[in-house]
Amino acid sequence: MCGIVGYIGDQNCVPLILEGLKRLEYRGYDSTGIAYFNGDGSNVIKKKGKVSILDNIINGRKLKANIGVGHTRWATHGEPNDVNAHPHFNASKNLYLIHNGIIENYQVIKKKLLDEGYEFITETDTETLVHLIDSYIKKDMSLFDSVRYALNEINGTYGIVVIYENEPDKIVVAKNGSPLVLGLGEGENFVASDVNALIEHTSKCIFLEDGEIAEITKESYRVKTIEDETISKEIEEITVELDEISKGGYPHFMLKEIMEQPESLRNSMRGRLLLDDGTTKLGGLQGFEQRLADSKRIILSACGTSWHAALVGEYMIEQFCGIPVEVEYASEFRYRNPLIDPEDTVIFISQSGETADTLAALKESKRRGPLVLGVCNVVGSSIARATDAGVYIHAGPEIGVASTKAFTSQLIVLAQITLLIARMKNLSNADGKEIIKAMQDIPAKIEEILKLNDEIEKIAEEFKDAKNFLYLGRGYNFPVALEGALKLKEISYIHAEGYPAAEMKHGPIALIDENMPAVFIAPQDAIYEKVVSNIEEVKARNGRIIAIVSESDDKLDDLVDYTIKIPETTAMLLPILTVIPLQLLAYHVAVKKGLDVDQPRNLAKSVTVE
Ligand code: G6P
Repeated sequence: MCGIVGYIGDQNCVPLILEGLKRLEYRGYDSTGIAYFNGDGSNVIKKKGKVSILDNIINGRKLKANIGVGHTRWATHGEPNDVNAHPHFNASKNLYLIHNGIIENYQVIKKKLLDEGYEFITETDTETLVHLIDSYIKKDMSLFDSVRYALNEINGTYGIVVIYENEPDKIVVAKNGSPLVLGLGEGENFVASDVNALIEHTSKCIFLEDGEIAEITKESYRVKTIEDETISKEIEEITVELDEISKGGYPHFMLKEIMEQPESLRNSMRGRLLLDDGTTKLGGLQGFEQRLADSKRIILSACGTSWHAALVGEYMIEQFCGIPVEVEYASEFRYRNPLIDPEDTVIFISQSGETADTLAALKESKRRGPLVLGVCNVVGSSIARATDAGVYIHAGPEIGVASTKAFTSQLIVLAQITLLIARMKNLSNADGKEIIKAMQDIPAKIEEILKLNDEIEKIAEEFKDAKNFLYLGRGYNFPVALEGALKLKEISYIHAEGYPAAEMKHGPIALIDENMPAVFIAPQDAIYEKVVSNIEEVKARNGRIIAIVSESDDKLDDLVDYTIKIPETTAMLLPILTVIPLQLLAYHVAVKKGLDVDQPRNLAKSVTVE
């Protein structure tokens, strides 16, 4: 949430920062701003709206500077407008700060600063921090120490970047709970909230940890804790390539990411499937396999789409491993007093690896002594680093705010974890082999489903004006119903609810009439006949029905308005196939409504605030 870019060196930082902000815009996009120093003094330009608006203003002015900071915002305190946009500054307009996170005790500090005569011009929590740092600078402290002292007074989360005109050769940055990474170049250095803004310029980076503060000049960097201890940091290599974060000819990142799924799933399985042994080899769990298989209970915790993947994981693990599983919203888990036994395993699932609620639930779990594992996409992310061990899903960068390829890769990785445990328990080699073969066939089957794109687009045209949608599925496909509904809500702003199909009669059936489309996920599995009965119940009330069915199924053709036929696979892997038409349906409905698919209103990709 909120994109951050800072630069110091000999290049003109203005276009460089704007380019970086565009790459980070999926983190937040309600307002943007840039501040910089050049020989003639300092300047700040802030605008409500997307980076392109700022870009148009700036391009007309041909600005040049060698040190600057930029921000793209997802508002928490204060509505998105020009004034509340970052960077924020002091009264002398020589100290500028950008911030990702929330200062929880800002009201107390604000009151103290107001008493000291500070004036506030924004509604943000962040402005408090600028004036607080200013108050230390006025006590003749260096910028670095002023920031450090100020941070010792605040509670909350932050990734901050600060520049001060009287010390124009440095940028001071600090992190607590919101990601920050330093990019190291030759005679120039960078800071950003994620590596996507850096990869054009350098492959060398340093990930800051919570409670760390750093100073970068064009030639050097130093890192301390905010308690003033010097620390030495490891320089890491960024492996992401530029074409992985470009649209590659597609009109939207979301469509590109949907279409990439055969390949992203191959990457999630590469080197991990042992056909002869009917099991999987997961390097990130090495040494923890037995402990995992011996778990008294497994808790899966996540948010959003990752939480839906966790629900599918629950079905998989309980069916094949005989271990009780609980699925927890990370946001609820962290504030309960969760009963966690040291013999439990808690697995946190997160595409970004930065979701604040998931990270907080992880920290809370660790205090109680279970094995803590991660299933993350972003390599080196906070959740990946804070867990005891884990498995990367290797889906590649996901930029579209609505998660697609990360979801299917999370599912295939959860299936791999399930198989690993099951083979250490009761599953036979022959059954294990069957599952491996089914996994290997998944990418080709997705290629088949993606060929239905035009057909699904036509269905979207017919249903795009619906005001409500119901998504229904059972068993492994109940979480897919939730995910299908979420996709539609997120990007088309149509109200959609996912339900276990059999629960429909306990309430949602009251909503059904000729205006209410119902999407049934009804592949031929053990509960197919039951789902067909639920379809009949909707039809009897004149509901319009789209059904995702197995390719061999002709039975539903006359009963429902549209069937979308998909290849068959083993029940455990079905959600990886059944979700693809739902992703495409949501995508085409949103495009036909003329909405911004990649950056839907009010949402952000990486939710680093509570
Ligand atoms: C946000 C995103 C969702 C995502 C959720 C959890 O709400 O818009 O797409 O599923 O966060 O994110 P995570 O990175 O932890 O999977």
